Amino acid sequence: MVYLPTGKPLSIRMSAVRADRAVVWWFNPRTGEARHLPGSRQRSGRGLGAGSGRRFGELPAAGRRHPLKTPGRPYVRTRALIPALNYNEHLMAEMKRILVIGAGNIGGALIGGMLSSGVADREHLRACEASEERAQEIREKWGIEVVTTGNRDPVSQAEVIILSVKPQTLPYVLKDIRDVLREDQLLISVAAAFPISVIEKIVQKKMPVFRVMPNIPVVVDEGATGLSTNAAVTREQRRFVENIFRSVGVVCVIDEEMMDAVTALSGSGPAYIYMVIEALIAGGLKMGLTHQVATRLAEQTVLGAAKLVRETMLHPAILKDRVITPGGVTISAIHELERHGLRAMLISAVETATKRSRQLTESLKAKVEEEFCSPKQTR
Ligand SMILES: NC(=O)c1ccc[n+]([C@@H]2O[C@H](COP(=O)([O-])OP(=O)(O)OC[C@H]3O[C@@H](n4cnc5c(N)ncnc54)[C@H](OP(=O)(O)O)[C@@H]3O)[C@@H](O)[C@H]2O)c1
Repeated sequence: MVYLPTGKPLSIRMSAVRADRAVVWWFNPRTGEARHLPGSRQRSGRGLGAGSGRRFGELPAAGRRHPLKTPGRPYVRTRALIPALNYNEHLMAEMKRILVIGAGNIGGALIGGMLSSGVADREHLRACEASEERAQEIREKWGIEVVTTGNRDPVSQAEVIILSVKPQTLPYVLKDIRDVLREDQLLISVAAAFPISVIEKIVQKKMPVFRVMPNIPVVVDEGATGLSTNAAVTREQRRFVENIFRSVGVVCVIDEEMMDAVTALSGSGPAYIYMVIEALIAGGLKMGLTHQVATRLAEQTVLGAAKLVRETMLHPAILKDRVITPGGVTISAIHELERHGLRAMLISAVETATKRSRQLTESLKAKVEEEFCSPKQTR
């Protein structure tokens, strides 16, 4: 039996387990009180688990069955089981002092995700920013301390450091903070095409380093993140960092050598999908729909189609087949798409982007070697 800090017994119920978010309830059998475990995600809208319309802290209505087990609803299996969060481990995780260096698009989204999900609280989360205007925006929106007077002091006071500056700025930031970094801190970089070996070379410390590739939908908590680590990272540290990125979407743990492919698929992927949405809107406009109607229908079609792939776990080819009627409308459009090679184009796009990411990584390695790791620079 696990006990809450108040001394009350804790029983944890997994109301839904999904690859992207675990909804974990804690339930006190004596008082009948039930809540989401901080850090686990309450789903919004209709759908699985807590998305069944209950508010935070509400018990399921008497006699109401678990939404996953309601007759007529398909029981959705997990793609990859997430280990159930251990409450005590979670409390410990909450105590870590986290610093985000660069509170731009990605850094700002991570701050929001960590605070909303309970992975961090305002007292334990700080940011460093170059721009005073952006710093003020973050202070007003999230109520955390944002420092604009340099990174070294905040780094020395942090336990977890998230580096979310642009890749070309990162070597300078690392060089500036390397002598205040400690081996008991966690270093997390989200910089594209910036390998762990280069970070290690610049900081010259045997510390746990994460290389993470999120994508821009983290700003709406629907990111897709690839995560890899160096050998110094422990299982607990990895779970902690996974929780940070799970607070803004889905996380896949991968070998670092696959990071260029992840960058090409999900890192750049939103841009490909925006082109698809843009083209669908243009098609609607050409056929006489209003701008507003075409946009609403196009965006919801992409969102709904993706959700169906995720929730049914069926291969997209099977779902596509279900929309086709012999001699009908959809098959004539699919013929056009095949004629113009839509699928081949997207496959080539991911392949070309992967090669480009590898090229950028190689040139960055050479530049860092020359500028930051020559004997006179490392002194
Ligand atoms: N955006 C994406 O879709 C995406 C996807 C995956 C990974 N990433 C990676 O995420 C990282 C951040 O990207 P982003 O799109 O969030 O960039 P961003 O919006 O430009 O954010 C970077 C922030 O860092 C600030 N900054 C610059 N130098 C700094 C310093 N020395 N100390 C503290 N803050 C500093 C910048 O301020 P100023 O603007 O004043 O310079 C800016 O506010 C990049 O490495 C990128 O490769 C981005």
